[in-house]
Amino acid sequence: MGMNGSPPRGRRAAVVAGLRTPFVKAGTDFKDLSAVDLGALVVNELVVRSGVAPKEFDSVVFGQVIPSTTVTLIGREMVLRTQLPRSVQAHTVSRACATSIQTTTDAADQIQLGHSDVAISGGAEATSDAPIFASRSLAHALVDLSRAKSLSDRARILSRLRPRDFTPVPPALKEPTTGLTMGESAEIMAQKNGISREAQDELAAKSHARASAAWAAGHFDAEVMHVAVPPRYERTSTKDNVVRGDTTVQALAQLKPVFDRKYGTITAGNASPLTDGAAALVLMSEEKARSLGMAPLGFVRAYAYAALDPKDQLLQGPAYAAPVALDRAGLTLADMDLVDMHEAFAVQVLSNLQLFASKSFAEKELGRPAPLGEVNPSKLNVNGGSIALGHPFAATGARMILQTLRELGRRKGQYALLTVCAAGALGAALVLERE
Ligand SMILES: CC(C)(COP(=O)(O)OP(=O)(O)OC[C@H]1O[C@@H](n2cnc3c(N)ncnc32)[C@H](O)[C@@H]1OP(=O)(O)O)[C@@H](O)C(=O)NCCC(=O)NCCS
Repeated sequence: MGMNGSPPRGRRAAVVAGLRTPFVKAGTDFKDLSAVDLGALVVNELVVRSGVAPKEFDSVVFGQVIPSTTVTLIGREMVLRTQLPRSVQAHTVSRACATSIQTTTDAADQIQLGHSDVAISGGAEATSDAPIFASRSLAHALVDLSRAKSLSDRARILSRLRPRDFTPVPPALKEPTTGLTMGESAEIMAQKNGISREAQDELAAKSHARASAAWAAGHFDAEVMHVAVPPRYERTSTKDNVVRGDTTVQALAQLKPVFDRKYGTITAGNASPLTDGAAALVLMSEEKARSLGMAPLGFVRAYAYAALDPKDQLLQGPAYAAPVALDRAGLTLADMDLVDMHEAFAVQVLSNLQLFASKSFAEKELGRPAPLGEVNPSKLNVNGGSIALGHPFAATGARMILQTLRELGRRKGQYALLTVCAAGALGAALVLERE
């Protein structure tokens, strides 16, 4: 930080290019692809389209949220499975749904420090490829069997097993400390914050309308690659398949609540869906970009991460992180030309907006004299958010950065604030600038 709260004007980290796959509902077009497959597709294509020679790259920071049991280091695989030179070092990070915000701030930090000149940041998620675990007893028996010396040893080990030990254990989207799923925690937020089903459905309908209009206007054409669909490769996935241009508040009102069937407000329509996809960015030092003749899409100006107790309102992290990121940027909410808030659930967006504008939250929780303020709806998620576009966990941050910077360019705007809530009651906020 500079003396007066503004960032040091040393080496700035520029985002010069970005790309994503279409985001598709789990179990559809990408069901035969792993996160590594999806990541490699997008990194490969991004490197080609960026026009940056592979030898210029020095690092990759990449993530996936659902761990793979067969590939433990997706970051390095993004080098080994693409045209990047083997000498490009790489690492993997996870910050749940804020993973590719983290990969981007990691890459930007390394650039600012002078440790890196040209980096790739991104994430991939294959929710269709979630590992199914064996029970502990079956796992222990299998390990013991591999060490058994005699037939009678083997027979004894196998005789320990009961039919229930063979039941597969599916992965859970549960918060380990509270035992609640994201959706259940979001229902608590709806109740505590007095957010109605109608308000949630309205936000969801707007997300679909805006995403669908953005596709129709061609805004996404240059940021979404096409993917030939395995195993036959006869079809090509060219667009997000979650977006429904015909979504209406009336149609959404018909859907049944899923996480609290009796009194709940959250439905398949006002929650982000389980999604497969990948997104990646090319970051460079400003000088490197200029020397290669590249026009930056924009720059990382400041960021902040925050956390609260998962027992409280799980997805309120953005309301804690955003004021710090704006302070670090030396800017206010009013300076922002765009605000892009990840939509895990409509209720989480509405809850965070409530806190952005709350004087008592600012005073009591943040110790600040004034709230951030109201977000102008005409600046918020203008091309749709995760409810309509989908949410492949680790890819969402990079999708938001790319989408926002390109929109900032179309509007000739200067600043944007991005926020993401994440498991563990984490929040991320990023301030981007153009020029
Ligand atoms: C909410 C959730 C359980 C719904 O899953 P699902 O039941 O497989 O959802 P579907 O896509 O089958 O939708 C259910 C129904 O709603 C309908 N629907 C969904 N979106 C709609 C829309 N925008 N307009 C109209 N109808 C819609 C579907 O057509 C479907 O109807 P049908 O049963 O008649 O076919 C799942 O998406 C989920 O777990 N989401 C939360 C993920 C999460 O935790 N995200 C946060 C991470 S930070």
